[in-house]
Amino acid sequence: MSEKFTTTNAGAPVASDQHSQTVGNDGVTTLTDHYLVEKLAQFNRERVPERVVHAKGGGAFGTFTVTNPEIANYTRAALFQPGVETEMLARFSSVAGESGSPDTWRDPRGFALKFYTSEGNYDLVGNNTPVFFIRDGIKFPDFIRSQKRLPGSHLRDNDMQWDFWTLQPESAHQVTWLMGERGLPRSWREMQGYGSHTYQWINAEGERFWVKYHFKSQQGVHGLSIDEAAQLAGSDGDHHIRDLYEHIEAGDFPRWDLKVQIMPYEDAKDYRFNPFDLTKVWPHGDYPLIDVGVMELNKNPENYFAQIEQATFAPSNFVPGIGASPDKMLMARIFSYADAHRYRVGTNHADLPVNAAKNADPHGHSYSKDGAMRYSFSSASTPVYAPNSTGGAHADAERAGDAGNWESDGEMVRAAATLHAEDDDFGQAGTMYREVFDDQQKAHILEQITGHVGAVKSDDIRERAIQYWTNVDADLGAKLRSNLEAAGAPEEAGEPGTGWEPAQV
Ligand code: HEM
Repeated sequence: MSEKFTTTNAGAPVASDQHSQTVGNDGVTTLTDHYLVEKLAQFNRERVPERVVHAKGGGAFGTFTVTNPEIANYTRAALFQPGVETEMLARFSSVAGESGSPDTWRDPRGFALKFYTSEGNYDLVGNNTPVFFIRDGIKFPDFIRSQKRLPGSHLRDNDMQWDFWTLQPESAHQVTWLMGERGLPRSWREMQGYGSHTYQWINAEGERFWVKYHFKSQQGVHGLSIDEAAQLAGSDGDHHIRDLYEHIEAGDFPRWDLKVQIMPYEDAKDYRFNPFDLTKVWPHGDYPLIDVGVMELNKNPENYFAQIEQATFAPSNFVPGIGASPDKMLMARIFSYADAHRYRVGTNHADLPVNAAKNADPHGHSYSKDGAMRYSFSSASTPVYAPNSTGGAHADAERAGDAGNWESDGEMVRAAATLHAEDDDFGQAGTMYREVFDDQQKAHILEQITGHVGAVKSDDIRERAIQYWTNVDADLGAKLRSNLEAAGAPEEAGEPGTGWEPAQV
């Protein structure tokens, strides 16, 4: 093997990795030491801004393979046609913590997927929870700020969290989920993934369906106890990144079965609750799970920064046969992510290898041009405007139905979605506590909310939180009240505001 010598970024050999150039051994450093300047300047620019949410994460590459050929009856999407295998990327994350925060803090986990399909990249940017805290995207910045840090002390604050949640009772289902055992997954491999929103599928005949995605872990679902999570947060903050990386390195590839719930298009109009409300799940008795295929993660990134930090997942990246729905959260997200990517990674983030539509025709026919760091381009004779009479690409009117649609008419308003008979805030949260949680999970949530609400300093907010849990389930609310009375006020109990950290009772 030939010897390797250090070079500058421009490829010229460098004389020393150890010594900057000075005037005499003890003299000043020279501005003409452009290698020193380059090295320090490059170092100062090594980071891109961390994601404003979901900053801490890790991921891997893999494949998605269709196992149920009948799924093509519901969508014309290339990746869901019989027998098709599609390359993909997954990134898992926690939501509120910064990029160095411990993986085992209580939080929902991101479950972001990018499928490199033959008709463009399809991104499904979900979580490990089927629901969310709010049902209108206009509330998202407020929600996130209430979960992050106080502006003065830069500490997380239980009062902010419970103040927001109790003033937004639509959060009850997701908060019940979060405070239970599933809020502390043992690993990313051992959690489910959900598309969460209702999406639209369109088949080859143009028929429309509403769909919800469920990724069921073949590794099973396992949580951590409150103590285990707290210990790991101290001893191995990167526990989840390490677990995924090491299992893939050892050839133990994690797999998830994708199943969907399909609602016939017409059912949505008079379903018993708003099927586009992100705080609700569709009961499986109404819409059973249908098999689709298997996702396997089998290749670790070679470079974390280039392939995970700079990966950009956007709910606006649809492909023919898959479209949006009237979910107000989803519609806000369709704007938000691509905008975040232009800021965080740059205008031409889609040019980067990890984001490029490598299995479609990557850049050939887009009329987007130029901008910082653009390096892909068409031949000089390709027209730069449309329409043109020089044989350039033109949009295909035949593809108008690919993205689906729905009927809508009325005045412009700022109001909740049209009411359905069983729309409410607490019903599914109560059902989850009473009918889904076993005794151990019931004990876990009571322990968790006792510690977490117990750390709230304001009497008013603490009382509202007790009422919130009473609305979820009267018995749970009563037990919480009695635990809090036994523990005394937070100052008496000496309990600091523990934020997302697992609160000890
Ligand atoms: C990341 C906005 C709701 C899942 C992000 C990012 C933004 C954002 C700006 C950072 C993107 C980046 O810099 O690459 C919003 C807004 C929401 C919303 C405005 C509500 C209207 C949701 C919901 C889910 C979700 C409901 C799940 C169902 C994720 C995930 C990531 C993310 C998984 C990380 C993606 C990655 O790994 O790169 N969100 N979000 N978000 N969000 Fe949301």
